[in-house]
Amino acid sequence: MCVLHNSHIIFEDKNINCIKFEDLMNQFSQSKTAVIDGITLTLSQPDLTTPEWIGQKEVLKQILACWMIISDKDLPLSPRIIGMPGIGKTTLGMVAAVQRKQPLYIFQCTSDTRPEDLIITPVLAESGKISYHASPLVTAMINGGICVLDEGNRMNEKSWASLAPLLDHRRYVESIIAGLRINAHKEFRTCVTMNNDESTFEIPDYMLSRLQPTLTLEMPNSQDEIAILKYHLPFVESELLNMTVNFLQKSHQLDLDFSPRDGLHILQYAMKRLVQDKDHPLAKDLAWQEAVQKVLGDDALNLDEMAKNKNRALGEIRLPQGLGDFFFDEDSPIHPDR
Ligand SMILES: Nc1ncnc2c1ncn2[C@@H]1O[C@H](COP(=O)(O)OP(=O)(O)OP(=O)(O)O)[C@@H](O)[C@H]1O
Ligand SMILES: [Mg+2]
Repeated sequence: MCVLHNSHIIFEDKNINCIKFEDLMNQFSQSKTAVIDGITLTLSQPDLTTPEWIGQKEVLKQILACWMIISDKDLPLSPRIIGMPGIGKTTLGMVAAVQRKQPLYIFQCTSDTRPEDLIITPVLAESGKISYHASPLVTAMINGGICVLDEGNRMNEKSWASLAPLLDHRRYVESIIAGLRINAHKEFRTCVTMNNDESTFEIPDYMLSRLQPTLTLEMPNSQDEIAILKYHLPFVESELLNMTVNFLQKSHQLDLDFSPRDGLHILQYAMKRLVQDKDHPLAKDLAWQEAVQKVLGDDALNLDEMAKNKNRALGEIRLPQGLGDFFFDEDSPIHPDR
């Protein structure tokens, strides 16, 4: 257990480098509670996976730069990481945390995340008493860890508002439930990952202005994509690997939203189908085609056609061209441009 009075408990950067990463993580996994201003908080457990980052070195350097402190007057930045689903946003945040040798906590944001879920939740203990559970975010603030706020734009404005003081120079959160103000440890860092899909809320501008800078992930080039797929699936057949990477690269060129994660799923399924029946093995190209179909749908087997349909659909959403478009429906018989 570590006892805190809103002060710091862990090591300065220089000491962290002297401690083995596994030992450090064990230490954090073992400290299950913290006491702040007389109130005992049950802490969340850190994520102990140690993913690797392949390719796009620049964006990894950029996030690490955001988290540096270069003078007494300086504060770390809390960047937002944007890009297509499955492109590696969460992985990037995780790898950056591992590189800084700090405990990593991931908070999965959803549309029904409440402010108290982000901070402290009261739980009825067996004894009948209320115990207070610190979220992964607050645990990172206490332990001097890193919190990845995953899929941040799924969260509503009320929840975001509770983080406003944390993400500016104040660096604290307030728990109304526990009646506590919790100051962030000097080493605390955070980033937010965001997807551009329709199941999301608009993040208010005052929050966006705190989530800076924006780091954008691009689709990997062919060399990096091979390395990513090979790293995760070292047992994969090289012929299937090449078919998948060629397919993904073509889809990136055509601006279709297929990601390395889709590639991993295609390969996993195709490999399972191949080894399933040793006496009558499926032909590789048939197994691969079936995998593409099952993972991405029938249309994905003809990428050119799919891209054409997508462009056609986009073209049909016509932008207003002149004043007439503002005052009359496109089909109106009195539209001046008709
Ligand atoms: N550059 C990379 N290096 C290593 N693995 C990668 C890389 N890019 C993607 N991956 C792998 O692709 C998969 C998807 O990555 P991840 O979950 O980080 O994507 P994401 O952008 O967060 O997706 P989502 O928007 O759906 O949350 C993971 O298995 C991840 O390890
Ligand atoms: Mg993610």
